Amino acid sequence: MNIELELNGQSRTFEAKKTDSLLDVLRQNGYTGAKRGCDTGACGFCTVLVDGEARNSCVVPASKASGAEVTTIEGLGTQRDLHPVQRAFVDSTALQCGFCIPGMILRSVALLEENPDPSKAEVRKGLSDNLCRCTGYKKIVEAVLDASDRIDGAGVAADGGTRVENRTTVGEDAGGTTSDCAGGDCR
Ligand code: FES
Ligand code: FES
Repeated sequence: MNIELELNGQSRTFEAKKTDSLLDVLRQNGYTGAKRGCDTGACGFCTVLVDGEARNSCVVPASKASGAEVTTIEGLGTQRDLHPVQRAFVDSTALQCGFCIPGMILRSVALLEENPDPSKAEVRKGLSDNLCRCTGYKKIVEAVLDASDRIDGAGVAADGGTRVENRTTVGEDAGGTTSDCAGGDCR
């Protein structure tokens, strides 16, 4: 079957099996910023924005996502023009292995869109569906609070960085540094 998505600002059509999840479709087509962890909706590594809402893409049937606006980490910013949340994560060194970071950043974008000036407790609660095996969360929470200050309530668009047009795979600008994880390049 065909799945039609407004993906990172571009109309795209993908082939999918009936049993495919949104995560399957994304990763099969080069959007590897969304990570596969538990594959059961329990870790948040696969978080993307679906119609502006943070969703665990591993438990979203691809058929149900058809027609939706989907934002992955590849659509947020670029290596040269990071989204403010990505920039805050890098500047706060809020990452170690980076595997959880694309999902964590997208969940943070949705959180700040809903609550531009969250308290520390609200950030912790808002990110509670996203696990991290490495950082202990402290720096991640600091990064989100820092991003909140940077954005200053001006509205966190899902495409806050410079949008990359006609981009189909994350590998196109893979740089290989640790901070690239904030852009989804640590596969
Ligand atoms: S891989 Fe989707 S929630 Fe864990
Ligand atoms: S899982 Fe390694 S940085 Fe979060």
